[in-house]
Amino acid sequence: MCGIVGILGQGREAAPILLDALKRLEYRGYDSAGIATIQDGHLDRRRATGKLSELAKVLEAAPIAGSVGIGHTRWATHGAATTVNAHPHASTRVAVVHNGIIENFRELREQLKAEGHPFVTQTDTETIVHLCQSFLDRQLSPADAAAATLAKLEGAFALAFLFEGEGDLIVAARRGSPLAIGYGDGEMFVGSDALALAPLTNRISYLEEGDLALVTRKGAEIHDASGARVTRAVQVIEVSSVVVDKAGYKHFMLKEVNEQPTVSAYALAHYVDNETGLIRSEAEDVDFAQASRIVLVACGTAHYACHIAKYWFEKLARLPVEIDVASEFRYREPPLSKSDVAVFVSQSGETADTLAALRHAAPQVGHVVSVVNVTTSTIARESETVLPILAGPEIGVASTKAFTSQLVTLATLAILAARQRGRLSPDEERRLVRVLSEAPRHLAEAIAAAPEIEAAAREMAEARDVLYLGRGPFFPLALEGALKLKEISYIHAEGYASGELKHGPIALVDSSVPVVVLAPRDQLFDKTVSNMQEVMARGGRVILFTDSVGAQTASEGAARVVVMPTCDPFIAPIVYAVPAQLLAYYAAAFLGKDVDQPRNLAKSVTVE
Ligand code: F6R
Repeated sequence: MCGIVGILGQGREAAPILLDALKRLEYRGYDSAGIATIQDGHLDRRRATGKLSELAKVLEAAPIAGSVGIGHTRWATHGAATTVNAHPHASTRVAVVHNGIIENFRELREQLKAEGHPFVTQTDTETIVHLCQSFLDRQLSPADAAAATLAKLEGAFALAFLFEGEGDLIVAARRGSPLAIGYGDGEMFVGSDALALAPLTNRISYLEEGDLALVTRKGAEIHDASGARVTRAVQVIEVSSVVVDKAGYKHFMLKEVNEQPTVSAYALAHYVDNETGLIRSEAEDVDFAQASRIVLVACGTAHYACHIAKYWFEKLARLPVEIDVASEFRYREPPLSKSDVAVFVSQSGETADTLAALRHAAPQVGHVVSVVNVTTSTIARESETVLPILAGPEIGVASTKAFTSQLVTLATLAILAARQRGRLSPDEERRLVRVLSEAPRHLAEAIAAAPEIEAAAREMAEARDVLYLGRGPFFPLALEGALKLKEISYIHAEGYASGELKHGPIALVDSSVPVVVLAPRDQLFDKTVSNMQEVMARGGRVILFTDSVGAQTASEGAARVVVMPTCDPFIAPIVYAVPAQLLAYYAAAFLGKDVDQPRNLAKSVTVE
C-alpha cells in the first residue's frame, strides 16, 4: 500500500533519482514521503507529509547527498500522516522503508522499550528499526541483523534496509508484498514494481515469498525463506508497458476513460481469432464442461465487474456462479471442490485480499484463473491460467479502463465456457464475438456524449446524496457508478436494483436527491420506467441514461435524459460504464477535488 525504492548509484546523487522514482509510485499512497541516503558513511534523511511536491520543497531547502539511498511514499496504516510517522524510520545505525503491516509489532515494541530503545512514532515500522538496531548492538553484521530481524516479524510486508557505515549495501526482503530488484550498469535498484524502476533499468527480477536480498553495486545475493542461496530469473520488461504520461488530458482518469475504445480493442485483438471469428484464449485449458460452478473473487470495482459477468456466465454457459468480495471469502471458509473453477480479478494483481483469497482457494479448487492488468504481478504468477486485460498502466486511483477491459475479458471467458459446455454453436459464438467487437465503437460514441454528461454532473455536484438505479447487469453497474462518485467527489452515493427502491431506499427521495437511472431499452425497460415514475412522484430528480428509443418513450418528467448509443444488450453494460465514470469525473473536477489521487485511497491495496 506504500511504495518503496532503493538505489545503489555510481557517481551520481541518489536523491533526485529517488524522488523521480517515487513519483511513479505515488499512486500507491501519498500521505507522506521520505528518503534516506548514506554520505561519507553517515545516514541522513528528509521527510515530509502530503504529496511528493512537499518532499521536493524540503530537499530544495535542505539537500541531501550520497549515491546510495532508499525512498518511500506512504499510505498510512499505523499512525497518522505526520512527519514523525513518515518513512524512512531510522535509529543511529539503520534506516528502513516498509510496505505492509507488522502484525506482532505491539509485543515487539513492549520488549524493545523495556530494553531501553526510544520509540518516537506510532508506526509498526519503527519496531523493525529498533529490533534491527538491537541485533547490530549485539555485533551482528548488517546482513545478519536484517535476517535476525525478519525472523522475528509476523505479517505481510516488503522492506528495504540501509545501514550506517555501509555505502554499498541495501538489504531487501519480501514477505507478502511485492518487491523487484533492478539491474543496471554498475548500479543496482530496488522497487515496489517495475514502473518505479522504468527509466533506470528494464532488467528486473522479482523476489519470491520469504526472499532476502543483499544488494550491492555488483549484483544481488538472494536467499530464500530457508536461508538457501537462490537465483531469481532476470526478465527484460518492455519499456512501452511502463511508460506513462497524461497526453494532454487534465487528469489521468479522463485520459484513461478516453483510452477505453483503444484498450478494449487490444483485449479483443488478443481474445478473438480473426480467421475463425471465434474466441481463442489462454483459458482453453480450463475444463468448463466438467465444472460444477465458477467462483469469482475480487475487490471494489473488479468485484462489480464480476457481478456483471455473472449474468453472462449464467445466461450463456448455464454455469452456476458464486461471487465474493475477497476480504470476506476465506474467513467464510466456503465449501470448495475440485470441480470449481476459481477466477480472481484484479487490475494491479497485488491486492492483498484477493491474493489471500487465491492462496486459500488454490489447493481446494480444480483450476485457478486470474484476470489481471499487470501480468508480472503476484496474483498472475500464482495462477494456473493468466488472462491479461491489456489495459496498459492505469494511474488514476479510480479504476476506469481496467473495469471495461475486465468486462471484455470476462465476456470472452463466458463465451468460451458456453462453447465448452455445448451451449453455443459456432455460428452463435461468431454472432456474440461480432457483437463484442462493436464495444470499442460504442464506447467511443458514449464518450462523445461527454458534454451532456458534464452538464448533468455539474447539476449533480451540489447534491449531498445521489442514488443510482439499474436492473439486471445494470444493477452492479449502478453500484460501480455510486462507488466512482463516492471515491472521487466525496458525495455520498448508493446503488440499488431499480425494483428494490420501493423496499426502503425510496424514503430518501426528495427534490434534493438526484436519481441516476442506467437503462437501455431492453425487456426490463418498462419495469425500470415504473420505478422512475415512483421516484418522480416523490419529487426526485431523475437523470436517465438510455438509448434513443428509450429516450423517445420515457423522457417525460425526467430532469435530464442523456442518449447513449444503441447497442446489443450483451455489451450494453460495458458501454454504459462510460456515463457512470464520467458523471463522477465531471462532478469531482467541478468541485475541484483531486481526481487522480482522492483522499484516503491508494491504487494498489497491499494490506488486508
Ligand atoms: C475503485 C478502485 C478499487 C479497486 C480495488 C481492487 O475505483 O479502483 O475499488 O478496484 O481496490 O483493486 P485491484 O483491481 O487492483 O485488485
